[in-house]
Amino acid sequence: MDGFSDEVRLDLLRRYAQNRWAKLPEGVIPLTAADPDFRAAPAIREAIRRAAEDGVFSYGADGGGPGFREAAARFVSEHKSVDCTPDQVHAFSGVAQAMMATARAFLGSGDEAIIFDPVDFLFGRSVDAAGARRVISPVDVEGLRFDLDGLEDLVSPRTRMLCVCNPHNPLGRVLTRDELGAMVDLAADHDLVIMSDEIWSDIVYDGRRHVATASLPGAEDRTVSLYGFSKTYGLAGLQLGYVVVRSPELLERIRAAAPGYFYPVSTLSLEAGRAALDEAWPWVEGFLRHLTEMRDYTYGRLRDIPGVRVHRPEGTYAVFPDVSSYGLTSEEMVAHLLEEARVAVVPGHGEAFSYFGPGGEGHVRLVFCTGRAVLAEALDRVEAALARL
Ligand SMILES: Cc1ncc(COP(=O)(O)O)c(C=O)c1O
Repeated sequence: MDGFSDEVRLDLLRRYAQNRWAKLPEGVIPLTAADPDFRAAPAIREAIRRAAEDGVFSYGADGGGPGFREAAARFVSEHKSVDCTPDQVHAFSGVAQAMMATARAFLGSGDEAIIFDPVDFLFGRSVDAAGARRVISPVDVEGLRFDLDGLEDLVSPRTRMLCVCNPHNPLGRVLTRDELGAMVDLAADHDLVIMSDEIWSDIVYDGRRHVATASLPGAEDRTVSLYGFSKTYGLAGLQLGYVVVRSPELLERIRAAAPGYFYPVSTLSLEAGRAALDEAWPWVEGFLRHLTEMRDYTYGRLRDIPGVRVHRPEGTYAVFPDVSSYGLTSEEMVAHLLEEARVAVVPGHGEAFSYFGPGGEGHVRLVFCTGRAVLAEALDRVEAALARL
């Protein structure tokens, strides 16, 4: 009864999923923002219900109270192979906010940060917001290869940070120990801070084990690891995330850049997060079994469409097919699918707003974190709309 249920409650989604189902015209299936179509784990719902009953909603502590930070330290120590203590945890109102704070803590005007392309737009935005310059490392999207040898050439005397997204959104790659090791070595050689966004690290398939950047030799003193609740637990609307920083000096810089009285975290969200970390892992295991099925189904359907080239994701619940053979830009393809299939997806790149950078051009991103029937309907419609091109 406390396990994962794959029931999709469209009545609830149309009311509460404000960035997808609730804002789109009826009949459109949103495979856009990466958040689940499922209700949160019963243990989380129960914790929120209990806290609401208790009825004390005082100010929270800077970086989250001890209950939350202890739960986070336990979880990270157990699941991420990084020995972590509560004083190394600092909570934020979501990973996006933690990324902004991390960039602001270590970057200033004229500094440079290396980011991969394509990658989630939040990396570029964080670097921009800190007044620093993005230095782009293009990823071979076809071969799913990071240009590790080329990284060295991107480093200048102004380089301060290397931004890592692992598992990678939108490519679905899970970085190997060797790939990460090369990145850590580069950071150590040039005294760079690593912003390691591991928000997707629980969503890995086929028995893979996520390697936490901070667990590698040489990484401990220079890594800011970011973890969240939006992907694993479907709590995006509660706005919660945290950083783990083992170097007291680095953590102090982040605290100074984002003092808790300016960035308070909702205590109700912290209570939900504590329950998620302490009590919801059996639910996550059921969720992962369902996601594995949806991944294989989505991959198989897309692979069989002539003109579509797609990789089977190793992690995350997004696929990033190459649809360039149809001769449309990513944005034009998104418009076509919305019009003809009534399915909303995200463009790999766009002129006005780029979700993943120029390296994403020719691709679209589809999220498969929903029920089988919704997905089947969406993919039937996508297939038919592509056949009309
Ligand atoms: C790589 C990555 N980082 C950060 C975020 C945002 O996390 P949060 O919802 O905790 O702000 C996302 C959400 O899609 C993401 O994919």
